Amino acid sequence: MAISLTVKGAPVRRRVEPRQSLVDFLRYELELTGSHVGCEHGVCGACSVRVDGAVLRGCLMLAVQCDGSRVETVEGVAATGEARDLQQAFAIENALQCGFCTPGMLLTAQDVLARRPDPSPEEIREALSGNYCRCTGYHAIVTAVRRTAEARARA
Ligand code: FES
Ligand code: FES
Repeated sequence: MAISLTVKGAPVRRRVEPRQSLVDFLRYELELTGSHVGCEHGVCGACSVRVDGAVLRGCLMLAVQCDGSRVETVEGVAATGEARDLQQAFAIENALQCGFCTPGMLLTAQDVLARRPDPSPEEIREALSGNYCRCTGYHAIVTAVRRTAEARARA
C-alpha cells in the first residue's frame, strides 16, 4: 500500500506491506534506529514514538495506520533541541546505562513534562511505568525528570 506521512518534519512517501509495524517501518525503511524493538507486544515502551503529538507504541501500530500523520522519533526530538535539557539531565544523573530504553524514556518523559510541568516523583514513576528499564533501577531517571522540571520552572 502507498502511504504519505511526515517524519522528522519531512514528507515521506513509501509503498509498505500492510502488516509492517510502524517501528519496523521507521527502522528498516527510513533507517531511523533510535526507536528500539523489545517485547513487540506493547509492554516495554522501547518502541515509543509520537504520532500526531501523542506518544504511542510503534510495535502496536501499523505503518499504514500512519498515512497522513505526523510522526516524530527520538531523532527528530533531538534534532529540534526541544528536549536537550532533559537529555543533559539524563547524562548528569546517570539515568542511562545500556541506553536501550532511553529513547522511549525521553519521549515519554518529555510528554509528561509537557502535560504536567511540575510532577511529583510518584507522578513521574506512574507516568513512566509503561517504559521498562533493566539497568538503572529507575531512581536516576525519576531524578533526571525532576531536575528538568525544576530547571524549566526557573527558566
Ligand atoms: S517493543 Fe513495543 S512496547 Fe515493547
Ligand atoms: S538503561 Fe539499559 S534498559 Fe534502561
